[in-house]
Amino acid sequence: MAVQVGDPQHETPEGRLDLETLELQLLLEGVYRQYGYDFREYAVASLRRRVWRRVHAEGVETIAGLLERLLHDPSVMERLLLDLSINVTSMFRDPTFYGAFRAKVVPLLRTYPFTRIWVAGCSTGEEVYSLAIMLTEEGLYGRSRIYATDINEAVLARAREGVFPLDRMQEYTDNYIRAGGKRSFSEYYTAKYGGALFDQSLTKNVVFSQHNLVTDGSFSEFNVILCRNVLIYFDKTLQSKVHGLFYDSLAMFGVLVLGSKETLRFMSHEECYQQIAPPEKIFRKVK
Ligand SMILES: C[S@@+](CC[C@H](N)C(=O)[O-])C[C@H]1O[C@@H](n2cnc3c(N)ncnc32)[C@H](O)[C@@H]1O
Repeated sequence: MAVQVGDPQHETPEGRLDLETLELQLLLEGVYRQYGYDFREYAVASLRRRVWRRVHAEGVETIAGLLERLLHDPSVMERLLLDLSINVTSMFRDPTFYGAFRAKVVPLLRTYPFTRIWVAGCSTGEEVYSLAIMLTEEGLYGRSRIYATDINEAVLARAREGVFPLDRMQEYTDNYIRAGGKRSFSEYYTAKYGGALFDQSLTKNVVFSQHNLVTDGSFSEFNVILCRNVLIYFDKTLQSKVHGLFYDSLAMFGVLVLGSKETLRFMSHEECYQQIAPPEKIFRKVK
């Protein structure tokens, strides 16, 4: 975990970690050793808030009390995982990014016979469906394969179903138009199962699978890696480590996409990329 002895913000006058920080460290260590999920290098402020939310929801008094519960009851771990993995997402999120992708990346992809894309931290899949729609409209979907991964199996199950809340369709339609969508957005879904069921042809070239960016290895030879709004929850050391993973997984001249608040500055391999559509966080691996 990022907080260590020597960090004055979390020290007692005697130079020990304050009790809350110690309990948080023990919790993260317990989660890792018992369940294999490694949150020890996630950014502390947001972790602390979410852990306390789970402490209250489980009706215990302290973080140590939560640790005791979850070591003996995997269902508590499942609930904590949902809290810690922060699954907020939306279709055509940050529409200007999709516009820039169409303008700058699609022409590159047209020069390839086949495109391998990794969407890391895909959550419930809205981003994957958005990408599939865009590639379909650009005539590239048939020769693309999208690997969509997340740490959390529960969100992946929802992604595979492709049913999204009907009451968000107006917002998504607006995003789609701003993203340069070429058809009518409603062509892509039908009202079913109490939601909007997206056309299953959009996932025909998608493989959803569990992958942990912190503990699992690299893949190889992707032409595009999208990892948006995930690294923001990691501390700098962990971000740098994951950038190593992306660098190793990206083909030469491949494209790396980050979220709007994320950066490559001061990261390992920063000098190996060129930003190709500023201010959008779209980078090309050049060495
Ligand atoms: C805020 S969502 C971002 C979803 C989507 N990329 C977007 O921008 O809308 C962050 C996702 O990252 C996933 N995540 C967090 N830690 C991860 C890890 N170590 N490995 C893989 N996915 C992780 C979470 O489960 C969550 O679904």
